[in-house]
Amino acid sequence: MKILGISGSPRKESQSGVYKLVQTVLENTGIEYELVSLRKKSISGCIACLGCVKDNVCKVEDDLMPLREKIVAADAYVFGAPNYYSSMNAATHALLERWFQFRHQTGNILWGKLAAVVGVGGTSGRFPADELEKFFLYNFIETVAKVTGQGAASCYSCGYGETCQVGIPSMIHGEGVKITPDMIPDVGQQPTVMAAAVEAGKLLGQRLRNGHDRKVVTRKMQEKMMAMFASAV
Ligand SMILES: Cc1cc2nc3c(=O)[nH]c(=O)nc-3n(C[C@H](O)[C@H](O)[C@H](O)COP(=O)(O)O)c2cc1C
Repeated sequence: MKILGISGSPRKESQSGVYKLVQTVLENTGIEYELVSLRKKSISGCIACLGCVKDNVCKVEDDLMPLREKIVAADAYVFGAPNYYSSMNAATHALLERWFQFRHQTGNILWGKLAAVVGVGGTSGRFPADELEKFFLYNFIETVAKVTGQGAASCYSCGYGETCQVGIPSMIHGEGVKITPDMIPDVGQQPTVMAAAVEAGKLLGQRLRNGHDRKVVTRKMQEKMMAMFASAV
């Protein structure tokens, strides 16, 4: 059994809240895993060339190619993305758009697998976490746990954070803010967030070990998707 972790943050691993939480979830599954960071990877969005429709293999030549086999081989996923403009960031979105390659012919390469998702934002990680769950639902993958945290917006360290009128420090702490190290959010210092990451990992591990049946999960996710479509009409 193997889990694939993806951290969609372009920041250095040591500075990324997404990376830290994805790693914590993975470590607590008790299952073999691989964690891949999208930092410095070049992955474009889907270009709708339809090159994948016959064989479910994307023909765009970039850094997704070597990742494809890992995606197919994994039994579960732990994906995390930062909040950019109240959405998941473009790098993570691009990678997931390219999962179009798995949606042709029999189309069941990913069906019934399990996932845990992570979202981190300067204010909230809710938006990217919800979007990751929705992407997984499209592939009939069940999101068993969602972890969200508040990370360090670049505005705290860009050099203009105390005077910038549109930066997160003045938005959160008010005009004339004096930035001190203790006010910079760090998911590692948020006990409830770290505890949620630990629990998410344990739950994902338990679900995988205790009779995970992909057919049952697939049916459940198909029903959920139909209900989502019905409510959106
Ligand atoms: C281009 C850009 C847009 C952002 N937009 C938002 C936003 O709309 N809401 C928010 O809460 N944080 C926003 N942020 C802050 C990031 O979500 C925050 O820095 C988070 O910690 C990033 O995760 P990371 O530490 O794993 O990179 C934005 C950051 C960047 C670079």
